[in-house]
Amino acid sequence: MHGVNSSLRPFGATIFAEMTRLALAHDAVNLGQGAPDFDGPEFVKEAAIRAIRDGRGQYARMTGLPELNGAIAERFEKTTGIEIAPETQTVVTCGCTEAIVDAMLGLLEAGDEVILFEPFYDSYPAAVAMASGIAKVVTLQAPHFRIEESALRSAVTARTKIILVNTPHNPSGHMLDDDERQLIARVANECNLIVLSDEVYEELYYAKPHRSLALEDGLRERTVVLSSLGKSFSFTGWKIGWAIGPAALVAAIRAAHQFTTFCAPTPLQVAAATALRAPDSYFTDFRCEYKRKRDLLAEGLRQCGLAPIVPEGSYFILADHERFGFQDDFAFCRFLVEKVGVAAIPPGAFYKNKQHARTLARFAFCKREDTLGAALDRLQRLPECARHYRSTAREA
Ligand SMILES: Cc1ncc(COP(=O)(O)O)c(C=O)c1O
Repeated sequence: MHGVNSSLRPFGATIFAEMTRLALAHDAVNLGQGAPDFDGPEFVKEAAIRAIRDGRGQYARMTGLPELNGAIAERFEKTTGIEIAPETQTVVTCGCTEAIVDAMLGLLEAGDEVILFEPFYDSYPAAVAMASGIAKVVTLQAPHFRIEESALRSAVTARTKIILVNTPHNPSGHMLDDDERQLIARVANECNLIVLSDEVYEELYYAKPHRSLALEDGLRERTVVLSSLGKSFSFTGWKIGWAIGPAALVAAIRAAHQFTTFCAPTPLQVAAATALRAPDSYFTDFRCEYKRKRDLLAEGLRQCGLAPIVPEGSYFILADHERFGFQDDFAFCRFLVEKVGVAAIPPGAFYKNKQHARTLARFAFCKREDTLGAALDRLQRLPECARHYRSTAREA
């Protein structure tokens, strides 16, 4: 029988599909997948509708619509102060997910090593495998999820080509601090490595502003920043993403992009250009709203006996459930969706060494406040349900 090839077979189906299926089957409030249950802004939708009506229905330029490449460069300069040439230093992709795969396909030779930090977004190791690379995994320890110099250095070998970082971080919400960013810069500069910096949650920070890796000493010449429209404008289904970096590295990503998807949907690229030129007030209001949601969920989780690790950025909260005595994160999340009626993600999905996730669950707060309220109402029953569940499990 023919089937999935050996590089992809180990990855199976993503946990997001499985938890969404369970959420539907048990009529649970879904705080699992990181997709908003509300729509993005009207002015962006209107721009897409106008573009469709105006007949912008054919393939876009392979590297991106000029107006979007320009808007990406403008926004990047506004947030980092770094001036880039949109024509050679940006490429538009179908979401950040495609940019990650294109970067691996375009930059790696077979057998090259990529340093990943676990917990990682689950597409990273699959993208490395698709490009015949080798993932070297460095574990970030809860609750701080900081990058330790000794762990990072011991993962670097003569075959290392890329360090892939994600800040603000999914699933922990950790944002790299000055020491961690400088550490990455030192190691990348000393060992001549490329830094891929996944900054899709760049607009979602709550304590200190996000700072791009491209700003560190020596990194501008070796860093590709990846981002997308999905998180910052609540259009995860539009799948408009991009990469920004030195022309030679962007050329490598374009070399793969031209044969993976060739171009992202034209009318959505037109609308993305409008979105990125939104007034500052859009971004501040967006952050304020998310901070309110974060605080509401963190407090609610605490009240029902979980121990939330309050995130500095992103729209996820990891919470420790150890006191409820479940065997692992999968057992807890299965119980939660079936018996309490709330779906969360078992973060083992983000680890190679799954035991590190044993006492954690990931809750998404990119939800309407009434959805968060409904989830918290149900979670009040958690201590009682867990007691009952344990006592019936003992008797069985
Ligand atoms: C860290 C990280 N990178 C990339 C992505 C994917 O982004 P996109 O939907 O633009 O492909 C996600 C989505 O959840 C993510 O959490």
